[in-house]
Amino acid sequence: MAKKVGVLTSGGDAPGMNAAIRAVVRAGLRNGCEMYFVYEGYKGLIEGNIEKVDRSSVSEIISHGGTILKSARLPGFKDEAVRKKAVEQLKKHKIDALVCIGGDGTYMGAKKLTEMGINCIGVPGTIDNDIASTDYTIGFDTCLNTIVECTDKIRDTTESHSRCSIIEVMGRHCGDLALFSGIAEGVDMIITPDHPISDEDIIENLKEWKKAGKQHIMIIISENIYPDTRVLSERIQKETGYESRVEVLGRIQRGGSPSAQDRVLAARLGAHAIDLIMEGKGGLCVGLVNNKVVHYDIYEALHLPRDKHMNLLRLIDLLK
Ligand code: ADP
Ligand code: F6P
Repeated sequence: MAKKVGVLTSGGDAPGMNAAIRAVVRAGLRNGCEMYFVYEGYKGLIEGNIEKVDRSSVSEIISHGGTILKSARLPGFKDEAVRKKAVEQLKKHKIDALVCIGGDGTYMGAKKLTEMGINCIGVPGTIDNDIASTDYTIGFDTCLNTIVECTDKIRDTTESHSRCSIIEVMGRHCGDLALFSGIAEGVDMIITPDHPISDEDIIENLKEWKKAGKQHIMIIISENIYPDTRVLSERIQKETGYESRVEVLGRIQRGGSPSAQDRVLAARLGAHAIDLIMEGKGGLCVGLVNNKVVHYDIYEALHLPRDKHMNLLRLIDLLK
């Protein structure tokens, strides 16, 4: 009998989620599955916001940002009683497997649903690149390019006004967006959770640069390092002689048409998720490691140590 497979997106949206949805639906149909959209992540799942789809349901979405399935956060999904409602809905629709596109929280939901009898496969969709079981998450590359495009513009005005600009980028608790964009921009200082710099060292460095005649300063900082990055900016302005401004890039980083890199990644990982479902597997997540498509048990994946990119950290000082 044909398998019935659902697909959902959950957590913060990311460019390339639509390309992943397309890959899952098209690969599923090619394998003879019946395919279902689940809207609004785990919230839509417990509410039964589920719809059968065909090939044309995913036409013309490959280049669109966001997620046509919408995304939601449902903290209550950690409760077994809430997840039971999800299992009931899936049984009602006779859906036997689910592809869950999102970050580590989404993976946890997928694993726990698998333990309750529904085979789920996690696909890494988040701008944060905070999942250790894949070199890159879907959305990271597009987001990085957005940050670089914005920072190029901020650099122009920073230079004109001989200011210090502090650009705050997303990443929740992961510094990859700051680190990679900082290297791509050749900024003067990169501050991330993996590479924190004390206030004193920041001020000392800037004072030295001022003394040496450096006219403007570009700093990229991860969100959540300071409760409000303006506090750092005010201190810089008061103590170093640089006029200082903060630019919080915000959710502009999550939008836009996915890069070619993210679309290809989405195609490869979405197709592999269906391969695993066809093999009757669940509780796994897919990823790309050393340019090879791989999969891990979700618990194992969530306990892998994250690559802190020490090789890139080295470049900050080397290329100053
Ligand atoms: P992301 O998937 O991007 O990490 P969240 O951390 O917001 O985003 O998680 C997305 C959703 O996954 C949550 O709103 C919740 O519904 C579900 N989830 C998160 N953690 C768990 C957990 N420990 N058990 C079950 N479901 C979870
Ligand atoms: O996980 C993606 C992400 O954009 C993080 O970088 C950020 O901390 C968070 O989501 C913001 O989420 P929200 O848009 O719900 O405030």
